[in-house]
Amino acid sequence: MPAIEFEQVIKHYGDKTVVNGLSFDVVPGECFGLLGPNGAGKTTTLRMLLGIVSPDAGRISLCGEPVPARARHARARVGVVPQFDNLDPDFTVRENLLVFGRYFGLSASETRALVAPLLEFARLESKADARVGELSGGMRRRLTLARALVNDPDVLVMDEPTTGLDPQARHLIWERLRSLLARGKTILLTTHFMEEAERLCNRVCVIEEGRKIAEGAPKALIESEIGCDVIEVYGPDPVALRDELAPLAKRTEISGETLFCYVDEAAPVHALLRHRSDLRYLHRPANLEDVFLRLTGREMQD
Ligand SMILES: Nc1ncnc2c1ncn2[C@@H]1O[C@H](COP(=O)(O)OP(=O)(O)OP(=O)(O)O)[C@@H](O)[C@H]1O
Ligand SMILES: [Mg+2]
Repeated sequence: MPAIEFEQVIKHYGDKTVVNGLSFDVVPGECFGLLGPNGAGKTTTLRMLLGIVSPDAGRISLCGEPVPARARHARARVGVVPQFDNLDPDFTVRENLLVFGRYFGLSASETRALVAPLLEFARLESKADARVGELSGGMRRRLTLARALVNDPDVLVMDEPTTGLDPQARHLIWERLRSLLARGKTILLTTHFMEEAERLCNRVCVIEEGRKIAEGAPKALIESEIGCDVIEVYGPDPVALRDELAPLAKRTEISGETLFCYVDEAAPVHALLRHRSDLRYLHRPANLEDVFLRLTGREMQD
């Protein structure tokens, strides 16, 4: 039985359709990534899953329970990291965890026993008695992640869990999320970091304007959507450069001052670029960001 099911879900705000016939399943133990540009409908999708807003059509289930009808019941087994922190700024770090434990019906002593490991999880041991209002943005994010684990959830629903974290904290969180997956937890996350999705997710679903436009394992999507290496060239005149390099590439694309050359055979492009000391270039394997930009366009949306 899937941990999460969406079947033909539709949500309108006014006359705008923000989720438009979305279907996907997340199987137990899987890390599933919901990707999409700003305004694509990711947060709305998660809010429907949690029973915070109701869909206009379609069917949703969470931990085998129909949502929103039995959302409260299902959420006892779910940990949530919302896109924007809703910590209590007047409480200390420790108090925020204790209050949340009580909310899940844990006894005071049960919750107290959880606090130390959760603080260690988030590397906030030294901040236990600091008020949330005194924490940095990244520390608040780590506390929100720790708080999501208070009820030892089977399923974690995380809306941009690592936004605002520095590189060290992001790597820490990736390592922590992997250990949760190793313990059999199911994760549904949204992210704008394609490296994060590529590292953590077994499968991703890309949505645009509320519709699914691609779904699959990151590696398989990279292979099917790009299927070759990429040479990025940075220089003052990308249009002139494209005219020069296009005959040597499978496909080219310009974004700002960067020319992207998709190549099966890199040697001829290297041969040409080697003599151009005015240019910087990088030859790399294709990645999930290339897939995302190919599917959703290199122009900004929203
Ligand atoms: N409560 C609301 N009332 C009206 N419109 C809303 C509401 N919440 C979201 N929207 C609209 O729904 C669309 C999808 O928003 P949503 O927050 O789900 O996007 P998102 O994919 O999470 O974007 P981001 O990556 O910026 O977080 C947007 O056009 C947004 O303006
Ligand atoms: Mg969002």
